Amino acid sequence: MKPVSVFAVTAALWVGVSSLSHAVFGDPERGQLVYSQRCAMCHGVNGDGNNGMAANFQQEWHRFTKSDEELAESIRNGFQTPGKHYTAGAMPPQFLTDREIDDVIAYLRETFANDPKFPN
Ligand code: HEC
Repeated sequence: MKPVSVFAVTAALWVGVSSLSHAVFGDPERGQLVYSQRCAMCHGVNGDGNNGMAANFQQEWHRFTKSDEELAESIRNGFQTPGKHYTAGAMPPQFLTDREIDDVIAYLRETFANDPKFPN
């Protein structure tokens, strides 16, 4: 194989893999819409937890040590940390599609777990 065709094959593979991972891991832009409509009233538009109403994504870095599956489970079925008192009580189960859940997790990770502004 000539070098130029190796490049072409590699490029084609890369495009294939990156579009696949997009579908599997969710789209943060669509996730932002879900977040603003369904999550911001408790977690705050900026993820600061609305004065203790809900988990503060800017500071509670341990949330992002969980896997996508664990976070999806918490979003789908609800979640409560024993001994923690948020004014909203517990995380209530969310009636979202699997895709919306993947999207909103992608948004949370991109915004709060990978941003050097936040100590996550
Ligand atoms: C009625 C208020 C409320 C709404 C609406 C809400 N949450 Fe929560 N959420 C909470 C509270 C309270 C906690 C903290 C629960 C605890 O750890 O005790 C929490 C925790 C979480 C956690 C951490 C779970 C874990 O396993 O540590 C994630 C992730 C989360 N919420 C995502 C979301 C997403 C995404 C939405 C919107 C689709 C949403 N929440 C909507 C109140 C809410």
